[in-house]
Amino acid sequence: MRCISCGVTPNSAGQDFRCTACGDLLEFFFPGWNLGTPASGQHSLRAGGGPGVPARLNGQDARSSTDPAALKSLWLNRRTSRDALDQSGVWRFRELLPHISEEHAITLREGNTPLYRLPRCARATGVENLHAKHQGMNPTASFKDTGMTFAASAAHQGGFRWVACASTGNTSASMAAYAARGNMHSLVLIPEGKISWGKLSQALDYGALTCQLRTDFDGCVRILNDLVRQKPVYLLNSVNPYRIEGQKTSAIELLEQLAWEPPDHIIVPGGNLGNSSAIGKALLEMRELKLISRLPKLSIIQAKGANPFYRCVRDFGGKKLEPMTADTLATAIQIGNPASWKKALRVLQATGGEVEQVTEVEIAIAKAEIGADGIGCEPASAVTLAGLKKLRRSGLVKASESVVLILTGHALKDPDFTIKFHRGDLFAGAPVAGTPDETEVAQAKHLQRAPVVLDANLGAVIAALDAAERPGDDH
Ligand code: F0G
Repeated sequence: MRCISCGVTPNSAGQDFRCTACGDLLEFFFPGWNLGTPASGQHSLRAGGGPGVPARLNGQDARSSTDPAALKSLWLNRRTSRDALDQSGVWRFRELLPHISEEHAITLREGNTPLYRLPRCARATGVENLHAKHQGMNPTASFKDTGMTFAASAAHQGGFRWVACASTGNTSASMAAYAARGNMHSLVLIPEGKISWGKLSQALDYGALTCQLRTDFDGCVRILNDLVRQKPVYLLNSVNPYRIEGQKTSAIELLEQLAWEPPDHIIVPGGNLGNSSAIGKALLEMRELKLISRLPKLSIIQAKGANPFYRCVRDFGGKKLEPMTADTLATAIQIGNPASWKKALRVLQATGGEVEQVTEVEIAIAKAEIGADGIGCEPASAVTLAGLKKLRRSGLVKASESVVLILTGHALKDPDFTIKFHRGDLFAGAPVAGTPDETEVAQAKHLQRAPVVLDANLGAVIAALDAAERPGDDH
């Protein structure tokens, strides 16, 4: 590992995964990847040497790691294997991850998530080549599982009895599941009243010690940071670089699904900014290893009420991040002081992507539009479609270009939001939403499908069916 700011390479990471010299975040790097061009003209990929660096490529034999084509075919072949690690969409790509011994690996066969076309959303945005990679199709129904399988395994390898995280809900659900599978105890710190019931219920079911603190997510992070300095608990927030390594694999899997032809754009929601950092790291490493020949632009979308990174880039030219009190109905990304902002900034700069912000109404409309394509996602994921519309208007995304939206969580994570939207009372008592303009109200109305309550007789149901068939109604 090395520090992202001062470049120090500590022999071991402290409990808080911060650089002991300057306090900034750590990341894995792989100086052992030898990318020299041998006489045959083939690129060789060898691992070796250096403190803290995997001396070998996660147990693979040298033959399989000689060139990009060999890696691609090795990963593809693993899809037919009966081995649990080969079946995982994370461990299948272990050549590009730090070494963790197999005996410590905790897997729920995460990853392997589908890439869907979005025909209706394509029409709405004018981008014909539009796909969604649905990370909500993971074992605990969010993208967190791809990082958690790897970081929880690192905790197991380190001999920890307790793991812990602060969370807006998905990290805690995922951590609790992997801790349970690995026979470790888990401590969850969540902001009281600010996470969805679906996510809370998961943490309880997987047996976590769940503390609802009377604060927000950023307050939970502060307390956890102090706790890990006093108690032997293993920190599983995304400042833990193992999390980032595991989450890298969603981008590798995406490129494999696209036959290694990079899309023009990848669009990601931005909260604590771990996911955008991980996907960006994977893109840069894949290009370095010649697995892909060019970089997609990676753009990050925030909710307007939780937009510290948007302001960092737009108002301060990326020079500083001013923490804020965050407020959005997309509770997963209600974060005012994102830990990984410097990593995410690097990714924006390296790929030429943009950062955008979207309103509460734009998020709700986009979520219903994704639902109308038969896919569905949680509110925080829908910022990607809302952001795409803005990037189309600003000209960064052209109609002829290919776009992949990263949908981070499943629709059933937050059914409350969905039901309120369709009943038309989502924004009642939600000052953060402001007053929607007429076009927005009309757009939302067009998408709303409130349940119809009827007497239990055939005539009433037939009348409802006939009403839905009337011209102009596109049910
Ligand atoms: N989408 C969903 C569904 C999330 O749960 C999160 C983050 C994000 C997007 C943002 O990703 O933080 O990597 O930028 N959820 C965290 C949690 C913070 O605790 O579950 P990010």
